[in-house]
Amino acid sequence: MIMYFSGTGNSRFVAASLARLLDDKVVDLKRLMHDGDTRPLSSEKAFVLCMPVYVDGMPLAIYRHLRATPLQGNRKAYAVVTMGSYAGIAGRQAEELFSSKQMEFKGCAEVVMPRNYLVGFAPDEKPESIEEKIKAAPDRIAQIAGVITREAPYEGRHTSEVEYRLVLPFIYLWDKVAFPTRKFVANDACTSCGMCERTCPMRAIRMEDGVPMWVKRHCMHCMACIQNCPARAIGYGKALQRKQRYRLGKYRHVLEDGSGEHSR
Ligand SMILES: Cc1cc2nc3c(=O)[nH]c(=O)nc-3n(C[C@H](O)[C@H](O)[C@H](O)COP(=O)(O)O)c2cc1C
Ligand code: SF4
Ligand code: SF4
Repeated sequence: MIMYFSGTGNSRFVAASLARLLDDKVVDLKRLMHDGDTRPLSSEKAFVLCMPVYVDGMPLAIYRHLRATPLQGNRKAYAVVTMGSYAGIAGRQAEELFSSKQMEFKGCAEVVMPRNYLVGFAPDEKPESIEEKIKAAPDRIAQIAGVITREAPYEGRHTSEVEYRLVLPFIYLWDKVAFPTRKFVANDACTSCGMCERTCPMRAIRMEDGVPMWVKRHCMHCMACIQNCPARAIGYGKALQRKQRYRLGKYRHVLEDGSGEHSR
């Protein structure tokens, strides 16, 4: 079973590609998180957790959701993470998660993809860089699938104990203080379609009189609402005025076999 979380399509694309290559099924964790659905998940094949890296590690909302979700059947598990450049300690966190469920962690694979965090300080990624990363992904995914098919160990990048112990507290601190919702706004272009409310994994958005309101003080900053709003109506303070919205679906032409159609 390929369990995936994706805000803007990168991890969804990787998950869909792996599912095709491994002839396995996909489960959308964003939807389960939105619904608060922690019913057991069961798989005959190895579990594969496909997710983005947030702030040098695994998004804690995903970690917490899976801690609460029983995993039944096959006892082997892999992590496949997508990130702009650096995966930090995500693999170690995934190892800790699966070990806590008495499962055998087989390793963490990394797939470099375009950066989607457009409320940070970094400037927009250049289109050439975005296309280069997307073009390189299918070969990388095929190599990862080859290992998972054999249920062999995946020899990924080693995370030292020092790195793990230094970065982990930072991730928890960041999760608590650095993802505020008070700067989210929807402007007059909003068509009241409700897509943002329906897709937010944290249930942080509620439509009130046709207007999206951010009703929680913090969220996970997955960028799904901003990047996927069909009217491009969502902003974040003054930060987004000139920034390009990113979602993988906009680049499906880059993938020669058209497999980007699986991503949004
Ligand atoms: C809140 C947040 C934090 C991020 N932190 C990192 C990071 O520490 N390192 C990195 O390389 N990419 C980082 N990124 C970029 C994403 O990991 C990357 O774009 C990922 O492929 C997005 O996957 P998705 O489209 O499936 O949501 C971050 C993105 C977000 C939204
Ligand atoms: S997704 Fe965009 S257009 Fe739709 S309700 Fe939300 S802000 Fe408005
Ligand atoms: S409010 Fe937007 S950025 Fe925050 S968790 Fe919900 S969809 Fe993601």
